[in-house]
Amino acid sequence: MEKQLEALKQTFCEELGHARKVDDIEPMRVKYLGRKGALTSILRQMGTLSPEERPRMGALSNALKTFMEDALAKKSEELMRTSKVSGIDVTLPGRAPRRGGIHIINQVIRELEDIFLGLGFTVASGPEVEDDYHNFQALNIPEHHPARDMQDTFYFQQGILLRTHTSPVQVRVMEKGVLPVRIIAPGKVYRCDSDVSHTPMFHQIEGLWVEEGITFVHLKGVLYEFIHRLFGKDVPLRFRPSFFSFTEPSAEVDIGCIMCKGKGCRVCKNSGWMEILGCGMVDPEVYKYVNIDPEKVTGFAFGLGIERIAMLKYGIGDIRMFFENDLRFLEQFA
Ligand code: FA5
Ligand code: MG
Repeated sequence: MEKQLEALKQTFCEELGHARKVDDIEPMRVKYLGRKGALTSILRQMGTLSPEERPRMGALSNALKTFMEDALAKKSEELMRTSKVSGIDVTLPGRAPRRGGIHIINQVIRELEDIFLGLGFTVASGPEVEDDYHNFQALNIPEHHPARDMQDTFYFQQGILLRTHTSPVQVRVMEKGVLPVRIIAPGKVYRCDSDVSHTPMFHQIEGLWVEEGITFVHLKGVLYEFIHRLFGKDVPLRFRPSFFSFTEPSAEVDIGCIMCKGKGCRVCKNSGWMEILGCGMVDPEVYKYVNIDPEKVTGFAFGLGIERIAMLKYGIGDIRMFFENDLRFLEQFA
């Protein structure tokens, strides 16, 4: 019986040496170690042995069993590593799935939202496909008013358009008739416009605070606080008188151009400054459209270009980069 065990070990080793694929291993396990396998049939002869021989033979066959099990496992692992299974080379390094990231513009939106939430604002929204009434009329921009030319508009059929700014959200929020109002409204806006600092689609955040006793001081306070939190206290900043038909008085805020440090370059059109927002006190004409009594409350509004903020914050010289979907650009912010 000892000889049989030795012979079995030898044929097993030879056969295992010839195994070339992982699939060869399981049949060998059945053949040598299975219930009807070679080892079992040798063990059946145990009964014919003398009681003195039995323990030794038992130990020998157990050792052989363990040996074969280990050898099969090792070989199987080795074959997994080296063999080609149905054309796949399992030894090649893995290809990890590509990790997505949040688009730089959405990251900036979240950051801006955080700042304004910290200042007591809540987030509102409105439709991108807007009507003339909310985008222009109720903002005191009547038909044929020259202010309509400031924003070249994409029109659908009569009276329906892609909103040219987030200001219609002001109207939609005030229409609800619940005071006080202290909201921001981030979103996409559309204009027929394209160069290094303009794209046909871009993002704005609207801000609106209407409540008893709100003055231009509150407007300045909120915007200074916001800009300082975003860019630090040292950033060059200026308020410049401007015109919007839905605010009076109106102003625009510029920040020192980060690309040229104020020297003048292509991005700031050689002015050294970059306009980031328009703002002002809500014009009493607008309150008429939303049934708010301008004798009771006052308020301010602002509209901020998000791409401009992102360009200044990250030193990006061409606004079009945000929307070309070049992964080499986008991955830097992932
Ligand atoms: C407006 O859109 C006003 N609705 C802002 C406003 C809101 C004023 C509330 C008063 C009260 P303006 O057209 O200037 O204003 O645009 C606001 C900001 O959007 C600009 O300061 C600029 O940062 C950004 N912007 C304007 N046009 C583009 C464009 N084509 N591409 C990228 N950013 C732009
Ligand atoms: Mg402007």
